[in-house]
Amino acid sequence: MHKITILNGNEFIYKSNNSKILEDGSFTWKAPSNIALVKYWGKREYQLPENPSISFTLSNCFTETTLEFKKSQKPAEVSELYGDNDFKQTLTRKESVFEIFLDGKRKLEFEEKVGLFIKRISQLVSFIYDYDLVINTHNSFPHSSGIASSASGMAALALCIMSMEKALNPSIPEELFYKKASFLARLGSGSAARSIKGELVVWGEHREIIASSDLYGVEFPHKVHDNFKNYQDTILLVDEGEKQVSSTVGHNLMYGHPFAKKRFEQANENLSKISTALKNGDLKSFINIVESEALTLHAMMMTSNPYFILMKPNTLEIMNKIWQFRNETNANICFTLDAGANVHVLYPEKEKETINNFIISELIKYCENKNYINDRIGFGAKQI
Ligand code: PMV
Repeated sequence: MHKITILNGNEFIYKSNNSKILEDGSFTWKAPSNIALVKYWGKREYQLPENPSISFTLSNCFTETTLEFKKSQKPAEVSELYGDNDFKQTLTRKESVFEIFLDGKRKLEFEEKVGLFIKRISQLVSFIYDYDLVINTHNSFPHSSGIASSASGMAALALCIMSMEKALNPSIPEELFYKKASFLARLGSGSAARSIKGELVVWGEHREIIASSDLYGVEFPHKVHDNFKNYQDTILLVDEGEKQVSSTVGHNLMYGHPFAKKRFEQANENLSKISTALKNGDLKSFINIVESEALTLHAMMMTSNPYFILMKPNTLEIMNKIWQFRNETNANICFTLDAGANVHVLYPEKEKETINNFIISELIKYCENKNYINDRIGFGAKQI
């Protein structure tokens, strides 16, 4: 079988044309978080998904990152073993020098993660080692809210790096700029591949989605029915703590999982079905697929070995209340879940008033400190 390596997709390797000199400067990007409707759970090297997924890009939950760069005076040279198991080689390369600040405070734990990310992408953006970097980042949502900032954070950083590439090579076509940004973001955090563009993004090859790829996210290529215009997402913060099991561990538990094969087939089928629902405006099918996907994701966690549960009692209370309200009123309200206890409540803009009243009177009491975030579908990352 053909082995995909990080270098798959040669179009993404930076080629210097030596036409531009870039001494110092800074770029700022604001990248959104996203919420998957059909979930990605299970990956292979390097950050390639076992099944395609589709997400709504969010609007109010975002990361804003400024990347300052200055030509390095004395870049250090280091040797190391590089590549995956079938592709090991020793490279001599420079080490990047960088610092990260979150809301003005140095974040050493982020530096380890980003250091690894920069190493991973270094073959694709070789210019990066010629600079000293300072990364200043800010999340619009509280750091401890239990909302993952890795998708928006990695997407914002990837876009800043792409702006450096564009400054060095202004002829890079816009389409390639965004594709490569998504490709790089994916290598930081899989779902970050879906945080570059909006409103709906597919990541992972699917037979019915033209140009879809395991390597990067693409915008959903069809016209979406007006029922989904400005779709609302109220995020109920049931548990504001750190995740007990990281998504990396969870993805890895899909290796040898007894239901993995069927699950990956099901995600492909659900993507076909949701694609039809999005085009036709079929809210009932949409609700059915989205809730089933959320519960299947958590079912995979409960049936892996070791097994684990990320939902909390209040997650279940909220789900039951939503079902009861939907049965009584026929409102087009549904929930989805990430890899955590928080609940995303999704509904059409047209039904905003009644559903907001219901959320405030019946659901907020299940949130930690009654905290929640009102969000809606967004339009992708922006340069500031
Ligand atoms: O991007 P990661 O590795 O944090 O994985 C995200 C997985 C889910 O959020 C649970 C599902 C998804 O498709 O976003």
